[in-house]
Amino acid sequence: MTDSNNLQKLQLELSKHASSMRGLHMRDLFMHNPNRAEAFSIELPDIFIDYSKNIITSEILESLFHYAELLDIKSSINSMFSGEKINITEKRAVLHTALRSKREEKLDVDGADIIELVHNELDKIKTFTSAIHSGEYCGWTNKSINTFVNIGIGGSNSGPKLVIDALSDYRKKNTYCFFISNIDYRQLNELKKNIDPETTLFIVSSKSFSTLETKANAESVKEWLVDVGCDQIEKHFVAITENEKAAIDFGISQSNIFHIWDWVGGRFSLWSAIGLVISLALGFDNFQRLLNGAREMDLHFKQGPNQSNAPVILALLDYWYNNFLDADTHAFIPYDESLKLFPDYLAQLFMESNGKSADLAGNSIDYKTMPVTWGGIGTDSQHAFFQLLHQGTQTIPVDFLAPLKKSGDKNHHRHLLANCIAQSQALLQGEDNPDPHKHFPGNKPSTTILYKELSPEILGKLLALYEHRTFVLGLLWKINSFDQWGVELGKKLAANIYENLKDNKTNTDIDSSTKILINKYLDSNK
Ligand code: F6P
Repeated sequence: MTDSNNLQKLQLELSKHASSMRGLHMRDLFMHNPNRAEAFSIELPDIFIDYSKNIITSEILESLFHYAELLDIKSSINSMFSGEKINITEKRAVLHTALRSKREEKLDVDGADIIELVHNELDKIKTFTSAIHSGEYCGWTNKSINTFVNIGIGGSNSGPKLVIDALSDYRKKNTYCFFISNIDYRQLNELKKNIDPETTLFIVSSKSFSTLETKANAESVKEWLVDVGCDQIEKHFVAITENEKAAIDFGISQSNIFHIWDWVGGRFSLWSAIGLVISLALGFDNFQRLLNGAREMDLHFKQGPNQSNAPVILALLDYWYNNFLDADTHAFIPYDESLKLFPDYLAQLFMESNGKSADLAGNSIDYKTMPVTWGGIGTDSQHAFFQLLHQGTQTIPVDFLAPLKKSGDKNHHRHLLANCIAQSQALLQGEDNPDPHKHFPGNKPSTTILYKELSPEILGKLLALYEHRTFVLGLLWKINSFDQWGVELGKKLAANIYENLKDNKTNTDIDSSTKILINKYLDSNK
């Protein structure tokens, strides 16, 4: 039998499993197997993943593993690590894992040892960080720099912002950090009220150095600096980019340009010089610890057999719900204030990577890909949208994340954990009530990820776990997780509409809705 016949056979088998699970309640699965939690959990150093509260049996998992084997995901994983150009639509390697490699490793890409390049850049980040922290690097009035403003959007914003917020306990004393991403001028206005330009460094983070929002914000900041009397603009800007020429044209000096390579995707870039702001805010040592943690997860992912491989198992569960149990969304709920930005970060990671409808061969596909990624923080979410999780009509798998230790009041932490555990228990068990309004059906799937007190290493591991899960999902759907053509059309049309708004005119050859919206703006701004 050919592989494609075998794949079809397995899909049929999984559909049959799905039908048989429709009549079952997870409560019964737990009753019949008192060791279910032990069987369906993964113990990694510092991280424990309990996936037993999912609508699965060992047979289903076996079929899913078999499916992954037939697709030969192991070879694809090796292809990524070894630098093959797996981002086929952009003809690029995908090597965010190389950013967390050890100095003594070697990896040749297009004739260059990229590990050496990575470590040269890391050395530059380290030296620059220390020059800033020691006060050796000063602003135009010879005051030392204590404020860092990252100007970037998408992957050039959300990863570093999440890391700095999550690891606030590790912040360098007496330093301040801000993120400017949106083209909405309100962000810049607020920023200007809160910073002293003489002691501020602006970090223009843009792989392409052509992103509208980032360029416009950087230009506005430059104008503001000139207005307030700065006569040495170059002292207040650094850039992280692949497009050095554009950064130099903007006015950034060569020595203040940090390099990023085409094999680092935007949403996978916090490990590169895009993480400069992390190093400035938390110290280079903590940035290195973050990289070390991610590297540990890389090794687990690369070396571990599918059957005990955390990213692979989580991706297989995602595939199971999305393609066989009709789940259209997946919720991510950290019971950890430190991870409050995690759902937003994941939204880009998952949906920009896997919101696709063409397969690797360029064919339109007829199966579902990425479900909607959403979420919020526990316990706040319990008092907001959890009603839908407990009594709504849809199947919504949930990832709960919680720290086993947290600094601060122990009792608060116990309440936090108790609520996290109780929610997954309630979703599983439900509660019978003759009054349909008060009836909890239960049988709602969730996975709980517990980790030791959040540290740079553990955060690195968690982020890499989700990155690799994203990649495996793409493999299961046979799509390219590393391009994002879907963001281009809107950018192009916005550029046309901007001309209309600026020049006070409407095109005649556009649809009536777009025309009426443009005219509303023009009427209001006469
Ligand atoms: O518009 C999408 C996107 O290309 C993201 O993938 C990327 O993270 C973001 O824009 C920012 O891109 P850049 O770093 O080139 O400014």
